[in-house]
Amino acid sequence: MRTIRTIRELREHLRAQRAAGRTIGLVPTMGAFHAGHVSLMEQARAATDVVVVSLFVNPTQFAPTEDLSGYPRDEARDAETAERAGVDVLFAPTAQEIYPDGFQTTVAVGALAQPLEGAQRPGHFDGVATVVAKLLNIVQPDVAFFGQKDAQQALIVRRVVRDLDIPVAIEVCPTVREPDGLAMSSRNAYLAPAERERAVALRRALDAAEQAVAAGERDATAVAATARDAMTPFGVEPEYLALVAADTLAPVDQIDGEILVALAARVGRARLIDNTLITANQTNGRP
Ligand code: PAJ
Repeated sequence: MRTIRTIRELREHLRAQRAAGRTIGLVPTMGAFHAGHVSLMEQARAATDVVVVSLFVNPTQFAPTEDLSGYPRDEARDAETAERAGVDVLFAPTAQEIYPDGFQTTVAVGALAQPLEGAQRPGHFDGVATVVAKLLNIVQPDVAFFGQKDAQQALIVRRVVRDLDIPVAIEVCPTVREPDGLAMSSRNAYLAPAERERAVALRRALDAAEQAVAAGERDATAVAATARDAMTPFGVEPEYLALVAADTLAPVDQIDGEILVALAARVGRARLIDNTLITANQTNGRP
């Protein structure tokens, strides 16, 4: 595996690969690799000839009050993990390389960036969209891989690619979880042992929502209340817990079709998010 830090060197390397007829896969990350990241690398390894993983803790997607300076960083360990996963190139640029002096053009996302994470983290998705557009332009991959764990992000990336006519296929891969159901996240590293036990509350809320719908409940407010109640024993309160249309993220009243149940909660100093997709038809409801 090669570690490359400049756009110029990366482009030179990839030009030769492309000329040899090889397809390129990109997995954008902020490092602190866990099994979720590795699953994206493995999917890329299986689907494309040259696997590029970008490792860049993107400052523009963090608000001034957020955890940019404390975000977990361990490039040496990440390089070993990526190498073991069969990654060909680790692209680890400096902030100056991505945002040189004079930088002033950004991607502004519309309605999809407003609810859920967007409401809690103003400007976050413009930062994500801008850096993802840049990475797609730098690498020009055939396929780029994202995780369903960040459902709103994945939806926005698909939208950006369509709206800006970026020629790439977007693959969204399933959420990888710990044995007790907690979604893998770099931010799980912030959890003290007692907090780690309480963090399972997020997955329990999603379980409760799935069970309520499976039992025939179609009223979104009732499903949300059941999901919230499932968190109470863990002493965890959601920042938001919402049932929205899976494609537009518009709030739903009655469940009919594919919906996303999305939530965020603070556990200790970690801000955690999770989600599940549920498909149900109004006509499947209780008799
Ligand atoms: P990061 O949080 O490092 O995540 C990198 C990719 O891994 C994202 O596509 C994310 O959805 C995916 N991922 C995270 N946890 C996962 C899990 N448990 N299972 C499956 N996939 C998981 O998301 C970002 O970085 C940044 O916003 C980025 C897209 C790189 C732009 O800066």
